[in-house]
Amino acid sequence: MRHALITGGSGFIGSHLVDRLLAEGGWRITVVDNYDPFYSREVKESNLAKHQGNGSLRVIEADILDDDLGERIGSDPIDLIVHIAAKAGVRPSIKDPIAYHRVNVTGTLKLLELARHGNVPHFVLASSSSVYGVDPNVPWKEQELGLKPISPYAATKLAAEQFGQVYARLHGMKVTALRFFTVYGPRQRPDLAIHQFFRKIKAGVPIQQFGDGTTRRDYTFVDDIVTGVRAAMDRTKGERFEIYNLGNSGTVMLKELIAAIEAEIGMKAVIDLQPEQPGDVPQTFADTGKSLRDLGFAPSTPLVVGLKRFHEWMLAVEAVKQ
Ligand SMILES: NC(=O)c1ccc[n+]([C@@H]2O[C@H](COP(=O)([O-])OP(=O)(O)OC[C@H]3O[C@@H](n4cnc5c(N)ncnc54)[C@H](O)[C@@H]3O)[C@@H](O)[C@H]2O)c1
Repeated sequence: MRHALITGGSGFIGSHLVDRLLAEGGWRITVVDNYDPFYSREVKESNLAKHQGNGSLRVIEADILDDDLGERIGSDPIDLIVHIAAKAGVRPSIKDPIAYHRVNVTGTLKLLELARHGNVPHFVLASSSSVYGVDPNVPWKEQELGLKPISPYAATKLAAEQFGQVYARLHGMKVTALRFFTVYGPRQRPDLAIHQFFRKIKAGVPIQQFGDGTTRRDYTFVDDIVTGVRAAMDRTKGERFEIYNLGNSGTVMLKELIAAIEAEIGMKAVIDLQPEQPGDVPQTFADTGKSLRDLGFAPSTPLVVGLKRFHEWMLAVEAVKQ
């Protein structure tokens, strides 16, 4: 049995990874999550509820910044850290950059220290497409130099990658940074556009559309992301430190996304037009050639299928509540 420490394992992407590993078998999993109040604790608890009583999963309620984290995790050797916990979201990071820096940079550094002192051979880090900023040179490649993030959140993710690179060089551990591109699917964070659009269109409430609807995103279904993370966990190719894009490698305009959601729900959206938001980038677009080559990463979920899966999940949650 391999022992994986998964930070942020109660959240959207983290809980899907836990599902995948438990279904696969051969893993002992320790989740560290502090139920950050960014969204409800109840939602995060329900994400892992079906695994209650599963002896292969231990959930520790702790902050990655806690000084006694190592003691609380215990002496059972860790084969792999998958560091997913973060303060997520571009716009809120503009309001509270210090908290973002503390969790996403200092928190990552503390976990790298834990990995170093615990002789953990491999550290996988959740990074973000936001590190590319407004780089017009699409599709974005990992080797792109001179990245200029345009939000505190994006800057923290780039800084975390840099610390990963330093630790791989100095301390001989393998570090794999994964740049996720707009992830969606069942359990998606309630602050993210797809989740908000579904909820509001169904309720007949106006949706906020920032800008003229021509901004583009590379929407990536969560199962595809988890397949990429899982492949990265067993990475044998590349150098000690590597960065990989995990994206769908296709871009969808905001107005096309809204139309696709309208079609899935069978209702028209009421649009509340708002100016573009500071920190938001006009487009994201992953080049996944390197991820395909080294990780065999080949996302396979078309947007309409992923939106249907999200909708089915939403209906199931609503049915339980009634
Ligand atoms: N969702 C996306 O589209 C997207 C895109 C790019 C990158 N990412 C990155 O992927 C990761 C997961 O994102 P998500 O959408 O699943 O978010 P999420 O908020 O659902 O999950 C993050 C989890 O981390 C936990 N957490 C936050 N601060 C913590 C702390 N100090 N100590 C312990 N736990 C803490 C939260 O409680 C939460 O359960 C994040 O690192 C995020 O930056 C997400």
